[in-house]
Amino acid sequence: MNTEPSSKSLTAIQGIIDSGRPLIYIQSAEEDRVIGLIERITEQWRGGRLDLFLWSVTEGLRQNGKPVKSQPDGPRGILDFILEHDKPGIFLLKDFHEFIRDAADIRRRLRDLYYGCLDTGRFTVICSPVKCIPEEINREVAFTELPRPDLKELEELLNAEVETIPRAGGSAGPRHDGAAPAAQAVLPAETVYVLTRAVQGLTFHEARHALRRATAEHGQLDASVVWTLEQEKQQLVRKTGLIEYVPNTTGVEQIGGLEVLKTWLMQRRELFFSRDSISSEIVPKGLLLMGVSGCGKSLSARAVANVFGLPLYRIDMVQVFSAGLGNAERLFSSACRAMEEVSPAVAWFDEIENAISHHHQDNTGVLNRIFGFFLTWMQEKPAGLFVAATANRIDLLPAEMIRKGRFDQLFFIDLPDRDERIEVFKIHLSRRGVDPSTLRLDLIADRTDGWTGAEIEQAVISALVSARLAKEAVTDEHLFPALRQIVPLAKTMREQINHIRSWAFDRAVHASARKK
Ligand SMILES: Nc1ncnc2c1ncn2[C@@H]1O[C@H](COP(=O)(O)OP(=O)(O)OP(=O)(O)O)[C@@H](O)[C@H]1O
Ligand SMILES: [Mg+2]
Repeated sequence: MNTEPSSKSLTAIQGIIDSGRPLIYIQSAEEDRVIGLIERITEQWRGGRLDLFLWSVTEGLRQNGKPVKSQPDGPRGILDFILEHDKPGIFLLKDFHEFIRDAADIRRRLRDLYYGCLDTGRFTVICSPVKCIPEEINREVAFTELPRPDLKELEELLNAEVETIPRAGGSAGPRHDGAAPAAQAVLPAETVYVLTRAVQGLTFHEARHALRRATAEHGQLDASVVWTLEQEKQQLVRKTGLIEYVPNTTGVEQIGGLEVLKTWLMQRRELFFSRDSISSEIVPKGLLLMGVSGCGKSLSARAVANVFGLPLYRIDMVQVFSAGLGNAERLFSSACRAMEEVSPAVAWFDEIENAISHHHQDNTGVLNRIFGFFLTWMQEKPAGLFVAATANRIDLLPAEMIRKGRFDQLFFIDLPDRDERIEVFKIHLSRRGVDPSTLRLDLIADRTDGWTGAEIEQAVISALVSARLAKEAVTDEHLFPALRQIVPLAKTMREQINHIRSWAFDRAVHASARKK
């Protein structure tokens, strides 16, 4: 008897069987996996092995892997067979939804089966990628949707795959010759930890393909294959058309200023890393960044992924709303669900209030429902998924959105102060190969009061262009004229910035350290 903890999927199916419900409908596209789980249940049956019957319209009926002698006649025949069978067993019917939908006598027979098999140890399991349970049999059928494999199942898969890999020197890949392979040494616990998380969210088959592809590329399975595995997940989200994988190399060192935000992130990183061993209440869930345009909201969202060591996915809110409000609800929830599948990751909802500003005339309640869904989802999403949301006009968001408890923190990112501007200049100059100590940054900082980080970057680029045209190294001679060419946003949009500021004053935490 296996005493290890079971996967959630196994426990769920076992639970239905233990409750004595003879008619079970499992929705899953992973038929092999369902069969594997049911096999486990039959093997571990109380006091011995339980017979397992598999039926499909193409292969007929097999009992414990062997075709039965007198084959039942079609879908109706298999139901009769189960009803007349006089021993306990599990009967798994593949793609049976087609027959349920089309024939009244099949639906009737399923009801007969329910009453005929109660308390007899005979269980009929219908496995199908779609849910099709007509009203008249709804009460008799126990329905469950098979979740993606959990870490326990993936660990088993990983161990099984490792056993097929020859030790260094041999060729990679599964062996088909039946000889006992000299398998790769057992994986250390920390490698199992990273690899199972890297394939989490994939189906069993997808995970196996990903592991095999990684093995083929690297010759073995170790932490170095994580990148290959993550590429498989990127394929997955690309299919949705709503989510974009963002290759990300933005470290916190590329953010000038915003010290409070940076410290917060570094502290939360520890908690996030221990998310499997600490109470879910204290696992960081998400961050809402609001503030003046061009001051580093998107930059900071990228840095979050970097600090947490996670892949970054951007949910395209414009795309979500592009097909009209009527479709937005469905698209938004499917984007969120797709994100669950690539967990652990950072889900970046950029300019989340866009949805509202374009649809303020919405009187259908769709927006409220979308935000309601989002807030519930925030509470229920997997612990490995961290949400980074950004907004310019946060005053447009519903109040529940910013209430404490949904996001861990709401940060306001203001125009950089003098010291921060110097830092931003230094970052952008150094990044472009200019030594900042050769420039009068103190004077430059005085002249750029009210500038955004984006404008500072723009000035650096202009200086670089003039220097290159003059075939000279960048000096103050290039930078000072560049400053004069830019009209900062703070001047043209003073009112709007003041509005954002006064709104944020007592509602958000200032991302920069405030100086007295
Ligand atoms: N604090 C900063 N440190 C370094 N660079 C910055 C900073 N703020 C802005 N920048 C530069 O300006 C660019 C634009 O900033 P970012 O995209 O993060 O602004 P944003 O707040 O998201 O603005 P928007 O609301 O317009 O989307 C960044 O890519 C970066 O190069
Ligand atoms: Mg942005």
